[in-house]
Amino acid sequence: MGDPNPTPDVRIFPDQAAQMAAAADEILRRATDGVASQGKFTIALSGGTTPRALYALLASTERHERSWRAGLPWDRIHFFWGDERHVPPEHPDSNFRVAQDAMLSKAPVPAENVHRILAESSSAELAAEAYAEHLRTFFRLEAGQWPRFDLILLGMGADGHTASLFPESEALYDQTRIVAAPWVEKLKTHRVTLTPPAINNAAAVVFLVQGEEKAHRVKEILEGELAKPLYPAQLIRPSRGALIWILDRGAAKLLRSYA
Ligand code: 6PG
Repeated sequence: MGDPNPTPDVRIFPDQAAQMAAAADEILRRATDGVASQGKFTIALSGGTTPRALYALLASTERHERSWRAGLPWDRIHFFWGDERHVPPEHPDSNFRVAQDAMLSKAPVPAENVHRILAESSSAELAAEAYAEHLRTFFRLEAGQWPRFDLILLGMGADGHTASLFPESEALYDQTRIVAAPWVEKLKTHRVTLTPPAINNAAAVVFLVQGEEKAHRVKEILEGELAKPLYPAQLIRPSRGALIWILDRGAAKLLRSYA
């Protein structure tokens, strides 16, 4: 049994390049170990803008001091998503499209290793149910079991949301479903998202957060004395896994540990 409430492993980097290289190293290490021990590696990707540079770096053929592309066991890595917008895969807002354009279309990834959320469905709820069923099949889950991703990559919004778990969302306290399709009032749209218990069952959760505009929230979440979780990102505490925050200088600027 892992630490029930792991102390977050907070890693701070001076700039985006160093931050993304650190995230790429963590993925490379875990993917290599995972394939060596279990023959495959399952990763749920995050959306938004922050991870684009990471995805590009992982697939890059440019000469870096380390080549993540050359080292990653692409044919043994299974790519999932932690959440998706309620749009078709070719839509510019699609989290699948962000990863597809930056990485998956540029690296030797077998098509059957890409497990996108079918968010083109007219019903976000149906897309959520289909994704949950796919996860139950892939992870060979019995009733009541949760998928255990090897790594879930998450971002965080300035409002403390993560994946598509937004403040006051009905999905925040869903303890039965693996995937939910909450209405997001501020965005006037449905989203499809893994629920907190599904995320918290991962072997590792990595938050990749960048920018000064998030510094206050990062401080509240990592150093706040908040008894009751106020922000969705505070609900992410893997029960048997690592919790890693990979921050740039801007996002970390208010942390005591950064001073
Ligand atoms: C999404 C993401 C979301 C994202 C944060 C941060 O679908 O948008 O999953 O949780 O990680 O909103 O987004 P940025 O990286 O664009 O700041």
